[in-house]
Amino acid sequence: MRSHRIASIPADGIGPEVIAAGLEVLDAVASRDGGFSLIVDQYDWGSDWYRKHGEMMPADGLAWLRTADAIYFGAVGDPNLPDSLTLWGLRLAICQGFDQYANVRPTRILPGIVSPLRDVGPGDLDWVIVRENSEGEYSGQGGRTHRGLPEEVATETAIFTRRGVERIMRYAFDLARSRPRKQLTVVTKSNAQRHGMVFWDEIAGLVSHDYPDVRWDKELVDAMTMRMVCKPRTIDTVVATNLHADILSDLAAALAGSLGIAPTANIDPERRSPSMFEPIHGSAFDITGKGIANPVATFWTGAMMLEHLGEAAGAALLMRAVEQVCAAGIMTPDLGGKATTKEVTRAVVEAVRGMNR
Ligand code: IPM
Ligand code: MG
Repeated sequence: MRSHRIASIPADGIGPEVIAAGLEVLDAVASRDGGFSLIVDQYDWGSDWYRKHGEMMPADGLAWLRTADAIYFGAVGDPNLPDSLTLWGLRLAICQGFDQYANVRPTRILPGIVSPLRDVGPGDLDWVIVRENSEGEYSGQGGRTHRGLPEEVATETAIFTRRGVERIMRYAFDLARSRPRKQLTVVTKSNAQRHGMVFWDEIAGLVSHDYPDVRWDKELVDAMTMRMVCKPRTIDTVVATNLHADILSDLAAALAGSLGIAPTANIDPERRSPSMFEPIHGSAFDITGKGIANPVATFWTGAMMLEHLGEAAGAALLMRAVEQVCAAGIMTPDLGGKATTKEVTRAVVEAVRGMNR
């Protein structure tokens, strides 16, 4: 039997609730599939760990994670600690330390879920946003001088490297090619930003020569927000910078019904390091501990993890089960339902058990 080692990092807020749900469902998929098993290592890193140890994870944390085939991550963020500390200390430290340069964010309207867009239902909106995940506006370059003085200066420099842009373009063109419509939209802002973004466009053009079978276009990021709302059917695969894709993916999640269903994968396409799978929603202090967190994003990202581990049949089975449960109206309050996290989880486990392989 194939076995995969998963490093589970539930971390903060609703992270532990949704990761527990996700592991339960993945276990059901493994039993149902019969071809593989998961070995799960639990890491209790995060903000509570920080309060005890003065760091978000141990200094040799990445070495521990390297022993895993994939990382299943909950959420990071704490009301009493600065976001920049918790984020850079754990999640971004993993993404950047493992050079997980492709952040993949699929969006679909699942059956039973109502989009805020009029006359848009399942099938009308089927996108994958590829987010550059290693540089751009998140490179951490910049600084502050003359603190507190009237002449104080702060800079935040976006970095675009030929290697970094080319590899994310190739990833996006490859992904577009693997999807039925073979269509890619390159999001940019080269009308206003004359250096990095013009470079971004140039490299997109160069890479596109290797993909004559992929139809591609360019869209300015501001116009892209309108297109997502007004013409969602014209979009398939999208590639954007770290910050642009961050913003567009929240919009995409809202248009698909809720941030509570949106998954993401931080991928090292070269497989030098484990890739990391997480729900997009974050720690959600307002509902932490209430038992109503939507586990669907964590299930969906679990399916992406199975896919990455080569368990395509298990991944498909899990998504069919999730869709069946959504279609039956078993949903948490963020989707207008009344079910708790546990009820949704139980329903998905049962659907997995009853599913034909
Ligand atoms: C996301 C989140 C993070 C990001 C935050 C928590 C820093 O919004 O994954 O989209 O901007 O990368
Ligand atoms: Mg975001």
